[in-house]
Amino acid sequence: MSYETLLIDRQDAVAEVTINRPDKLNALDATVIMELGRAVDELARQGAHAVVLTGAGEKAFVAGADIAAMSRMTAAEAKAFADAGHRLGFAIESAPFVAIAAVNGFALGGGCELALACDFIYASDRARFGQPEVNLGLIPGFGGTQRLARRVGLGRARELVFTGRQVTAEQALAIGLVNEVVPAGELRERARAVAREIAGKPPLAVAAAKRVMARGYDVGLDAACELEATAFATLFATEDMREGTAAFLTKRKAEFKGR
Ligand code: COA
Repeated sequence: MSYETLLIDRQDAVAEVTINRPDKLNALDATVIMELGRAVDELARQGAHAVVLTGAGEKAFVAGADIAAMSRMTAAEAKAFADAGHRLGFAIESAPFVAIAAVNGFALGGGCELALACDFIYASDRARFGQPEVNLGLIPGFGGTQRLARRVGLGRARELVFTGRQVTAEQALAIGLVNEVVPAGELRERARAVAREIAGKPPLAVAAAKRVMARGYDVGLDAACELEATAFATLFATEDMREGTAAFLTKRKAEFKGR
């Protein structure tokens, strides 16, 4: 499948998706959002187990939703745009692969929201995060008012959304927005190495953990633990679980097949 705004590099079960509009700091317009959705479907169909999402160029991961496109939108068009952004966020969250955002520069507005829809974030030491929509007379529209608070807590999220302030990679690390800060030249390889590590695990177990952790977060603890118990039990029907436990007991390395 060919893409106008994305570069996709797949090696076995690991893929790297690069948003490729560097002249516009990889801003998200309707085409990028549509193509990211297609890429999520395609990579899931192809059996990717871990996907790194990053931005082209030195400067930006994604500098936000496309302000030029938004400046011309009617309210109805803006609703459709936000709905498309939300569908993409949910598609990433419910994908069977683990998504790692490798934030190589500015992750502002929709860029921060896109990174937050990924399972976790690695950042270069040059990265900057923020939800600057308030400076445009707007609020985050791709999930930022909700996912940012779930990641860093309501107080920190409110401060970032109300001030539109940017934070450095180190500050983002301190508030739990990112998992690790890496020298800029090493970010992609570090994120790929983690992706390869995860892709080497039994994929049905990783996908079940991802599903339960994402869905369970927003339901009560009872219901979340019920989801966990069902997924836990379902894994007993997999060859990988029998292989993993047998390998442990016979002190050999497990050979997982994804079944
Ligand atoms: N939407 C559309 N175009 C964008 C963009 C966005 N969110 N962010 C950057 N661009 C474009 C600029 O318009 C410029 O295009 P041009 O060369 O045709 O004029 C190009 O990308 C380079 O950006 P520029 O502003 O010149 O780079 P900079 O280094 O001076 O500043 C930023 C970098 C990220 C601080 C600045 O681009 C910015 O504030 N962007 C908008 C951030 C934002 O508000 N995002 C939330 C949107 S909801």
